[in-house]
Amino acid sequence: MRIHILKDYEEVSTKAASVVSSQIILKPNSVLGLATGSTPLGMYQKLVEMYNDQMVGFSEVITFNLDEYLGLNPEHPQSYNYYMYNNLFNKVNLSEDRINIPSGDIDKLEEFCKEYDQKIDRAGGIDLQVLGIGTNGHIGFNEPDHILKTGTHVVELAQETIEANSRFFDSLDEVPRRAISMGMSSIMRAKKILLLASGENKAEAIKRTISGEITTEVPASLLQLHPDVTVVVDKKAAKLIG
Ligand code: F6R
Repeated sequence: MRIHILKDYEEVSTKAASVVSSQIILKPNSVLGLATGSTPLGMYQKLVEMYNDQMVGFSEVITFNLDEYLGLNPEHPQSYNYYMYNNLFNKVNLSEDRINIPSGDIDKLEEFCKEYDQKIDRAGGIDLQVLGIGTNGHIGFNEPDHILKTGTHVVELAQETIEANSRFFDSLDEVPRRAISMGMSSIMRAKKILLLASGENKAEAIKRTISGEITTEVPASLLQLHPDVTVVVDKKAAKLIG
């Protein structure tokens, strides 16, 4: 793992945008795995700025998003579809047929999950997977458990995740209890991984990811087994790794 400890969220976002844009410049038809949540917001903002300044283009890029809440339609303001279109897809030259993101209102879930993994394979696999991390060490919505799922699957969200994500909803009751998420092998098969974290509440998860035992109880700790992981964190998230 390459670990970059930067001053603050602004620097994390700049570094993350530069890793993603370099990937696209070196390989214009890159397949990107994308995350939502508060952490990559600054990175998306910077990528849009770089696109506007004609420093990077997305016309050949293909994207696969990590996850989506079940029960929220794509127009719901808290859906990850809404987030992605609002923060990136509508702001750059990425055509609709190159965007892949699970929808929260699909009926045939099992078929969808299988097809999603096959689509990633047909695209040649993910070149660069961007990840945030939950306070409990989840990546995507692969929650701590005694076993982890390999492919894209339906997840019951952990109480800690429901509580952490309630900040985006009017009440705890409104947070969906289920989601669809890429599995651990979909993530681990990415050629490169970029893990981002900011803030003190991520410090314990980052410590356990980088230097703790490899355990399904901290899904991000499995990243220690991946040959090409870049971790970009601010000082607060790096507090326990010195
Ligand atoms: C989102 C995702 C989640 C988040 C994680 C951290 O697509 O896969 O694993 O990355 O919950 O969320 P934030 O960045 O909001 O702290």
